[in-house]
Amino acid sequence: MKKILIIGSGGQIGSELVKKLRGIYGNENVVASDLRQLTGEIVETGPFERIDSTSIVQIIEVVKKYNIDTIYNLAAILSATAELNPMLGWNVGIGSLINCLEIARVFNCALFTPSSIGAFGPNTPKDLTPQDTIQRPTTIYGITKVTGEMLSDYYFRRYGVDTRSVRFPGLISNLTLPGGGTTDYAVEIYYAAVKGEKFVCPIEKGTFMDMMYMPDALDAMVNIMEADPSKLVHRNSFNLTSMAFDPEIIYNSIKKYIPDFEMEYKIDPIKQAIANSWPNSLDDTCARNEWGWNPKYDLDKMTVDMIDSLRKKMGL
Ligand code: NAD
Ligand code: SER
Repeated sequence: MKKILIIGSGGQIGSELVKKLRGIYGNENVVASDLRQLTGEIVETGPFERIDSTSIVQIIEVVKKYNIDTIYNLAAILSATAELNPMLGWNVGIGSLINCLEIARVFNCALFTPSSIGAFGPNTPKDLTPQDTIQRPTTIYGITKVTGEMLSDYYFRRYGVDTRSVRFPGLISNLTLPGGGTTDYAVEIYYAAVKGEKFVCPIEKGTFMDMMYMPDALDAMVNIMEADPSKLVHRNSFNLTSMAFDPEIIYNSIKKYIPDFEMEYKIDPIKQAIANSWPNSLDDTCARNEWGWNPKYDLDKMTVDMIDSLRKKMGL
């Protein structure tokens, strides 16, 4: 059985990935960790360790203690927050990654580190963005992601480290709120709709970005790490998507189920500039062909599940 360490377990992805992996590999085989002391289900259902992933010593102690053979490295500062503090974005994103790569090399671990649609920039073809194309991002977040992709491929080629990654689009979920990204509006809009509030949208109408519902993202993280390595032509990192929309399209999807829902626009210039530099829609054919990527949720199916889940969560 795998012995897994998840770094950054308290975030939007980690808080759900811990539960998913513990369900597959067993509670005792999945060690959750975060910079913050977490509480609740994550610490009650299996091992938890506090780790600052910019400290290689702290990660090594935990890898040795639990005989870890697989690391999911989720520590990062998301795009909009990183733009406010670029050095923090670089230090956490790259500091955590290089520590994990060195540990994976020395202790023979497999390593998953998510990349992002943020790894593309304004020169990238915007529609059906190819797997292999121009990557000249203009955000510090994107620069860390491209660097991360290249470092991860380098460690695979140079040392044979089993590094794998996907370029996640904006992730939509109902357990933990997102941590300061450009795509956060696509989560926040559901909270406003279910609470009966008018939504103030920070992204302009007509701005398309790729998006994905969390259950598909969780499957992707399991399936890519279970994929037959002989089938992987690419590694770091695979384009992934399951839907692409602008604010009007998601608003109208919600209005089908909450007809009184209202939205107005108040554009956030930082988020809008970032969104303008990202693709409209990715081509994820390589992920489909090389390891069977096949998302289950489209926009309307996600909307029904989001509304239902948030109503239950809020007791409405
Ligand atoms: P998040 O901001 O919600 O969570 C990040 C977690 O990392 C937090 O719990 C935080 O406490 C922790 N952390 C921060 N600094 C740390 C450090 N030094 N040591 C240990 N832990 C630290 O982020 P997320 O949305 O869960 O994203 C996880 C990864 O997925 C990131 O690499 C992100 O770039 C990538 N990604 C996310 C999305 C998305 O829409 N959520 C999309 C594309 C890529
Ligand atoms: N959701 C992420 C962000 O907006 C995409 O990488 O930062």
